[in-house]
Amino acid sequence: MRAYDIIAKKRDGKKLTTAEIEFFIVGYMDGSIPDYQAAAFNMAVFFQGLDDEETSALTMAMVQSGDQFDLSAIHGIKVDKHSTGGVGDTTTLVLAPLVASVGAPMAKMSGRGLGHTGGTLDKLEAIPGFHIEMEQQQFVDAVNRVGVAVVGQTGNLVPADKQLYALRDVTATVESIPLIAASIMSKKIAAGADAIVLDVKVGSGAFMKTVDDAFLLAHKLVNIGEQVGRKTVAIITSMDQPLGNAIGNTVEVQEAIATLAGKGPSDLQMLCLTLGGQMLYLAEIVDSPQEGERLLLQSLQDGTALAKMRELISSQQGDASVVDDPQKLPQANEQMTVLAETEGYVNAIEAEQIGLAAMIMGAGRATKDDQIDYGAGVVLQCKVGSYVEAGDVLATLYSNRTDKFAEAALMVQQAYTICEEQPVAMPLVYGVVS
Ligand code: URA
Ligand code: CA
Repeated sequence: MRAYDIIAKKRDGKKLTTAEIEFFIVGYMDGSIPDYQAAAFNMAVFFQGLDDEETSALTMAMVQSGDQFDLSAIHGIKVDKHSTGGVGDTTTLVLAPLVASVGAPMAKMSGRGLGHTGGTLDKLEAIPGFHIEMEQQQFVDAVNRVGVAVVGQTGNLVPADKQLYALRDVTATVESIPLIAASIMSKKIAAGADAIVLDVKVGSGAFMKTVDDAFLLAHKLVNIGEQVGRKTVAIITSMDQPLGNAIGNTVEVQEAIATLAGKGPSDLQMLCLTLGGQMLYLAEIVDSPQEGERLLLQSLQDGTALAKMRELISSQQGDASVVDDPQKLPQANEQMTVLAETEGYVNAIEAEQIGLAAMIMGAGRATKDDQIDYGAGVVLQCKVGSYVEAGDVLATLYSNRTDKFAEAALMVQQAYTICEEQPVAMPLVYGVVS
């Protein structure tokens, strides 16, 4: 077999065999296929696409490029959740204890964030004492005992994705639905999930800019799952503004705690119930996603979810009293309000801009060696659909770096689009593909 022939075959729109796809990925990883051939391959795929069988073969070849976790020692069906990118997406912090609180095992491996805010791990580390490092056996024991554990990713998961993604990033081939689908699914499969719930974001700040494209990606993801024997559901959700009100680390932990107490922002609660209902259904805890949602809502309202959050924090050596006294989380010394300059309706809030404002105040890392300031962040006081007058507070900034306030405030102000006409209410959830 030769890389040249595989590239030419895809260039001409022909279907590749599993053996050809494996040959290509193995060769790329051992260095016998150079970057320029892989770049040409990606571009051929970008134009000609891959069918479901080819995409599944690519996914599994990528999975086999590195370590795979075996979660079989954990009782029950392990369902994982993934979001295709969100700013201030507090859902994992809520869903891990929430779904566990009604009996589905949550064995969550998470990453650190590069960019706007920390990742889920960084947010949890805002809780004094919280440990995210565990040996494999400790992790298994913790999930079996408490029902939930969140650990940092160890091992070498899908190195082919790291290498291919870096190449796609500089060759204008990120925006290919089969390449995105293989990238996402390979990581979830290598992490050991039995079943997968995906939150596919659509909107100006998301990978998928149109609802049609988001549905195409969702179908692709679900079909790969089916081909490789992991039940998969994809939910298409809007990203015309950040989810919830908080973007940062401490502020998002506080928001997660409020949500677990049934007092969270309505959009965040709704999305958590929708995703969680599907997770419970795939975990075979309930007979329908709707029944799952009812069970979860009850858990939010009767204290069960909050109790599970306390258990999760204690089990990982954190100070669980933050649940009852969130002021114990690291706070910023200074705060500043961002005011509306004109009156009208909030039409859109560019999530990316809000995330960047949080980052420059210290909530995220620009490079992997940067230190996170847990107290830094943005809390939105007005969301899409609100009517504001000039001088009303749009958002509050928190930081220990007052030198960054002016720049961050300008970014937040510019992230808001305020118009005279009332915006047409858009759904948060566009649909479910299963
Ligand atoms: N998210 C991923 O993990 N991979 C992609 O290619 C795009 C989004
Ligand atoms: Ca949020």
